[in-house]
Amino acid sequence: MRVDPFDYLGLREQIQWQREKGWTLEGGLPWADGVREDRYCLPLDEDAVAFPGLSEEQRIVMSQFLGLVVNATIAEMEGVIHKLKDVAWSQLLRRYPVNPEMRELGELFFDEELKHAQMFGRYNQVFCQSLGIDPVAMGRLMPKAFGSLFQKAVIGNAKSGGHAFWWLVSSAEEVSIAIYQALHGWRDAMDPLYFTAHQRHLEDESRHRNYAVLMLELVSRSPGGSQVGRLWHRKTDLLFSQLFTTLWVVSELSKVFESRKLVGEHRFFKTLASCLPHFRQLSPARLAEKLFVSAPYVSLVLNTKYHRHTIDIAHQQRTPSFPFPAPKPAIVRGPRRVA
Ligand SMILES: [Fe+2]
Ligand SMILES: [Fe+2]
Repeated sequence: MRVDPFDYLGLREQIQWQREKGWTLEGGLPWADGVREDRYCLPLDEDAVAFPGLSEEQRIVMSQFLGLVVNATIAEMEGVIHKLKDVAWSQLLRRYPVNPEMRELGELFFDEELKHAQMFGRYNQVFCQSLGIDPVAMGRLMPKAFGSLFQKAVIGNAKSGGHAFWWLVSSAEEVSIAIYQALHGWRDAMDPLYFTAHQRHLEDESRHRNYAVLMLELVSRSPGGSQVGRLWHRKTDLLFSQLFTTLWVVSELSKVFESRKLVGEHRFFKTLASCLPHFRQLSPARLAEKLFVSAPYVSLVLNTKYHRHTIDIAHQQRTPSFPFPAPKPAIVRGPRRVA
């Protein structure tokens, strides 16, 4: 992985590689195939994240719901990335231009993230179309970053000279790759379009995941700002990013309880609402342990110890992070019968 923003020859090679291997939203996925209603989106652990004792029918719906939440979370986060293009990227490169390759690679990075946000949004629409669900009703259960405290906080941090954004991106890149790793090996049991979307995402992410690291490296070397301000941001930006990501994700996940108001709309919501009493079987301590330590997908986002490269960079730059407990990922499995 290239991590030196001054290695312009290496960056030039990477630009060529990304351009050659890139795919398009229209040509890269078999949209016309639609979604298979009888398939999981994501493999689940025995407790279905935090809903122990579900029937197979409930597990399929829970897996599909989580699949849509994962898509919407990535789409919203990558949408936020685009909103910060000027304040968190362009302004820094204008002040400290480094080389044209850093800029060109950045343009590619932002274009790819926008494409991913559109791809995951489109999958969720196709899911609703295929199952005959009103997308507006489904939207009530999905995470939204636009106008949230999370988005305002990250923009505010960037405007005050902070770089929480790049820590956020670095973690998000690792989460995207880890989600595909969880899916990998379950191709025949999952919805084919869902699998392809995450495979396409992995292809781009594995090629451009160093860009956040390049920017963090550039930030650590760039002049400008007061000594005190720079030190303050170096010590607090990662903590800030972790705090606001956690608050946002936990509050958005609670939207699953909205499904109780939608039971008359579609059997998907009825089955999802029927899973909710299982949530109460968990004690608060057990729930916290699951969310931050073992639950698939959720703990992956919430616990930065899963983001090994990001933590390595933080150590190198002597940037503190929350002392999350060591991850213990639960074993996942697919459906009992593959349809
Ligand atoms: Fe992405
Ligand atoms: Fe990315």
